[in-house]
Amino acid sequence: MRQSHAQPVFFSDAGVAPSESLISNSSLFDAGRPIDGLFVYPTEVTRDTATIRLAGSNLAAVNSVRVRKKGSNEAWHIAKRPRGMLLTRGVINLHLGSEGEFALPEPLAPNTRYAFEVETSLGVAEGSFLTTPPAETDVRFLVYGDNRTDAVSHRSVVEAMLKRPRDLLLHTGDYVEVGPRNQDWTVFFALERELLANRYLVGAVGNHELIDPVGANYIKYLAPEGSDPTSLHVERRGFVRAVRWGRAHIFLLAGMDDGGESDERIWLEKELDRSIEDSPGAFRIVALHHSPWSSGPHGNNRKLAAAGVVDLLVKKRVDVIFAGHDHIYERGSARGIAYVVTGGGGAPLYAVKKRIPEAERVESTHHFLDVEITDGKLTYEAVRDDLSTIETCVLEKGKGAFSCDGAPARIPEPEPTKITPVAKEPAKSGYDPVFLVFGGIFALGLGMTFASRRRRKKRRKKDLPEKRETDKNPRP
Ligand SMILES: [Fe+2]
Repeated sequence: MRQSHAQPVFFSDAGVAPSESLISNSSLFDAGRPIDGLFVYPTEVTRDTATIRLAGSNLAAVNSVRVRKKGSNEAWHIAKRPRGMLLTRGVINLHLGSEGEFALPEPLAPNTRYAFEVETSLGVAEGSFLTTPPAETDVRFLVYGDNRTDAVSHRSVVEAMLKRPRDLLLHTGDYVEVGPRNQDWTVFFALERELLANRYLVGAVGNHELIDPVGANYIKYLAPEGSDPTSLHVERRGFVRAVRWGRAHIFLLAGMDDGGESDERIWLEKELDRSIEDSPGAFRIVALHHSPWSSGPHGNNRKLAAAGVVDLLVKKRVDVIFAGHDHIYERGSARGIAYVVTGGGGAPLYAVKKRIPEAERVESTHHFLDVEITDGKLTYEAVRDDLSTIETCVLEKGKGAFSCDGAPARIPEPEPTKITPVAKEPAKSGYDPVFLVFGGIFALGLGMTFASRRRRKKRRKKDLPEKRETDKNPRP
């Protein structure tokens, strides 16, 4: 049985079919009744490796998995029981690389698209991925977020996104309404199946994924394999990540409302320094769920600021922040950083609560961003789900603000210089300030006395001829 766009393959949640109300509302499901199955997508893509991930509640029914280059009979990777397949619900990760038990006959080349087929006892699924483009390569990718709860609107955004074939998806969080509820993930994968099968998803964690504090399903489906939220090592927890994709250097943050742990800030500073040193011209992009600035009901992420994360982003001259959480489109600039709130991925829209001074454009609409980065320039088109354009914006490297639809960029005021008072330090001249003050007063007094004497002398000279005249003609 081969997957096709006309007949989506589903996996059910422990025998429970996906929500009928959600399904019946979406055109995706018109083709027929969902069947047990699996979902296949590329993840952890690097310049010469990738992982094909299989997700589903029915993995126990899979006897064997074989990944092959599309059109080839030569297996890239074979997995047999019991390698991860005894789970009733979980994932199977199939590594493609030049090392290990299933080394590829030929190493993967960077910036190259590979099509693959995954053959299982449940059927054959297809997909493709692009290996990571090297530094200083122009790149294009899509940004979106907050697609939970409303399957119809979510699918509408996905269908619009499918019209823009890009290699990378950057997600700002809130994939599902209830993170621990497996059925929500079933719907998410069903709605995004075609997108995810052929694009590498790099996604921040949202508050809805963290309804269970460890975000178990986010970790399982979207974080790197082996992530452990209880790990003492910040990167191994799976919530923060640095991804380099050509000219784009992306930093995923977990700072939702609490500003992140201190070791996350230390990690971020180190990664930003490394990025600046390696590629000064790269665009440094921070993606997180709750924006430092937002005109929506959630407002500014004050805890992130209080934790010093925003100061760090300003100090390291991060180019742009992509966020969500508020279900609106908002573009603005603050403290030398351009930002976009792109929470219009399908979740119920929010009204603009209070337009903040940093905002330059706000609209409550379902949408996504189509981003392109070339040498020194980031351009994006904000696209509504009906494919109309909200606006097209350009960010020149180092400018800190977007120029949109030909209007000049509103360059933010420079950061005020902090003046640290220096007490009781001798003046640079080496003279005591007290001496200088009294000396000045003395010099001023001397000058005034001198000027007064000159004035009197002048007056006397002027009076002399008059006096002589008076002497010659005495008054009667
Ligand atoms: Fe949220």
